[in-house]
Amino acid sequence: MPEPFVTAIRLDRERIENAEAFPFSLPCVRNLDRLELDPQITFLVGENGVGKSTLIEAIAVALRFNPEGGSRSFNFATRESHSVLHEYLVVERTPRRMLDGFFFRAESFFNVATELENVGVVRSYGGRSLHEQSHGEAFMSLLEHRFNGGGVFVLDEPEAALSPSRQLTVLRMFHDLLKEASQFIIATHSPILLSYPGARIYHVSPHGIERVVYEDTEHFQVTRDFLAAPERMLRVLLSDDEE
Ligand SMILES: Nc1ncnc2c1ncn2[C@@H]1O[C@H](COP(=O)(O)OP(=O)(O)OP(=O)(O)O)[C@@H](O)[C@H]1O
Ligand SMILES: [Mg+2]
Repeated sequence: MPEPFVTAIRLDRERIENAEAFPFSLPCVRNLDRLELDPQITFLVGENGVGKSTLIEAIAVALRFNPEGGSRSFNFATRESHSVLHEYLVVERTPRRMLDGFFFRAESFFNVATELENVGVVRSYGGRSLHEQSHGEAFMSLLEHRFNGGGVFVLDEPEAALSPSRQLTVLRMFHDLLKEASQFIIATHSPILLSYPGARIYHVSPHGIERVVYEDTEHFQVTRDFLAAPERMLRVLLSDDEE
């Protein structure tokens, strides 16, 4: 296995002036010290609002990606929304040079698509403007045409637009990119994506960031229990009895 690009992320706590201000006030940042990354895929999972996007974005910006997404050569900004967390992150890197890379965030994919049109590189996305494709088609195009091996891919909810079968296709695409020595850091809610064999999964919660195995994630358990007996869960969930 080739060496990874990034081995860990560390928070330089000494330099933080106001620990009570966002983003340092987020419980997961308060408890962050050093996060070791998998040489292949690291996932961040956890409840809505715990700080996964804040962390992912800071990691991406510390790796010199544009905060709104894109490759490392993108530098457009439609709004200055990113936190200052990246300034306090120390990226532990190997000397390996990145040949490719992309920061994808479901939240600002629209703006990335506009930027791609502005810089006139529609051809490298399958010849059709991403705006003329459906949300899921546009994401698949991006993946097919713009993700190459030997890079770091930082993705925030890549499953957002995808049907379950397309998520399986994406797993296969990740697998091929990994064979070409890539590294992924992904925030997700998808029990399908999380299943990638051997991936390192971190559960982000108000108590901090902890490593978990796939079968212990809420995503796996809730989905499994629901699909095993939807009628039983729905009966409880939709019950009007107040007991
Ligand atoms: N600029 C900001 N100032 C203050 N609080 C913020 C700011 N941006 C985000 N937050 C808060 O930080 C928390 C973490 O947000 P974040 O987007 O990182 O969550 P998340 O784990 O990615 O959630 P989701 O699963 O819903 O995407 C939220 O409670 C959010 O309201
Ligand atoms: Mg998020």
